[in-house]
Amino acid sequence: MTGPNAVEAKPRPCWIAGRAEQGERELVVRHPFDGTEVASVAVPGPDQVERAVAAADEVAAEFRRSPAHVRAAALEHVSRRLAERAEEVAETITAENGKPLRWATVEVSRAISTFRFAAEEARRFTGDLQRLDTEPAAQGRLAVVRRVSRGPVLGIAPFNFPLNLVAHKVAPALAVGAPIVVKPAPRTPLSSLLLGELLAETELPDGAFSVLPVGNEETMALVRDERLPVVSFTGSGLVGWQIADAVPRKHVVLELGGNAAAVVCADWDSDADLDFAAQRIATYSNYQAGQSCIAVQRVIVDRAVADRFVPRLVAAVRELRSGDPHDPEVVVGPMVDEDAAKRVEAWVGEAVERGARVLAGGNRAGTVFEPTVLADVPTDAKAWDEEIFGPVLALSTVDGLDEAVSRVNDSRYGLQAGLFTHDVRVAFRASAELEVGGVVVGDVPSFRADQMPYGGVKGSGVGREGVRSAMNDLTEERVLVLTGVSL
Ligand code: SIN
Repeated sequence: MTGPNAVEAKPRPCWIAGRAEQGERELVVRHPFDGTEVASVAVPGPDQVERAVAAADEVAAEFRRSPAHVRAAALEHVSRRLAERAEEVAETITAENGKPLRWATVEVSRAISTFRFAAEEARRFTGDLQRLDTEPAAQGRLAVVRRVSRGPVLGIAPFNFPLNLVAHKVAPALAVGAPIVVKPAPRTPLSSLLLGELLAETELPDGAFSVLPVGNEETMALVRDERLPVVSFTGSGLVGWQIADAVPRKHVVLELGGNAAAVVCADWDSDADLDFAAQRIATYSNYQAGQSCIAVQRVIVDRAVADRFVPRLVAAVRELRSGDPHDPEVVVGPMVDEDAAKRVEAWVGEAVERGARVLAGGNRAGTVFEPTVLADVPTDAKAWDEEIFGPVLALSTVDGLDEAVSRVNDSRYGLQAGLFTHDVRVAFRASAELEVGGVVVGDVPSFRADQMPYGGVKGSGVGREGVRSAMNDLTEERVLVLTGVSL
């Protein structure tokens, strides 16, 4: 590819058991802003899918026992090659996903770290010793507790981070010696295929990875395939819970949505504090056009600071330029497709019909929805209650921390929350009482470091990603009891 939107003559190959192959048909990838064709990709047929799954199954036992240095070297290679090709990789993300290049560049550097962390963790993933001589009956006994791969993983990835959320499935799986079959999102397969290219440059055994840009029907067949005992899914709650219900005996990891809240507490009250919170909330309710599970959707402000905070927030949102992501001034690009933008428009319309006020934005042009601030949104309107996954935030005022905590918790979701406070007691209380997987103090809920545990409670999913946490999730404990040992 010579430019972000250049079209190639041949479909990009899919990866079947580590080898590049043309498929049975083609899938055209279009740019979300203007619908231009950016590439076409090879869609594998049933025989190819079967070969990919059979190879993962066949190689699983050997790969599980492979030395850590082999797996670590492969992961380091991918990290290094992503760094070498960073500009091209960022352009690929922008071309398929539509996010402005500045956000795509951040995503590439995160993916570089994700693979690097996995290489480091592969080297230290050892297990524990547990003494058993705590009772007379077990005197002289010691347990060696190791974690062993549960087996091949089916990784189903979303469109919003087409590289790094694939990296969060691929890197931990390879780190624990689990073969992985990747099913990228239909609109954004290019970054996954590029990862396939980098993985193919390593010494990983055939079958350790495949990338299959197949459709939904083939995906459900893969979900049900017993040779893939682990399913790791990131995407919508509707599909995620259908998968969990379809295969109750499998190990299923679900990273689903959220309607993340940022709370501005009464003690966050200096001009500098309020300017900072306004900037961060404006930026992170609109980054990637709000298409992140931890984008700020609900803003809960203590009445003590609301009069000074809200005008700052509205001004900061109005400053964000939206439109063509190729324009370097643009920070809010298109949504993934026009249906997504129309859905956001309908949800904003519903809130307004039910009494909400539009303080900024509110309009759609094609796939671009303006950065929008709503006030007085009824708590059962979709713009408050559901995951909007668009550049819209809804404001609400509360009196004190008790009300703020119950407002955050009044949600079917629970991924992350952000709390602007200086008070460490409030931070600990929030961490104990908020029904979320993570609380970020002094910043927005959208903060994520790729090594930290990441995942939700309630409707936001089960299991944890973050390299080490995912490695735990993809493995099970095996106990070896030694007898007659000196302790
Ligand atoms: C997500 O949308 O769940 C991922 C957010 C992130 O990795 O920053």
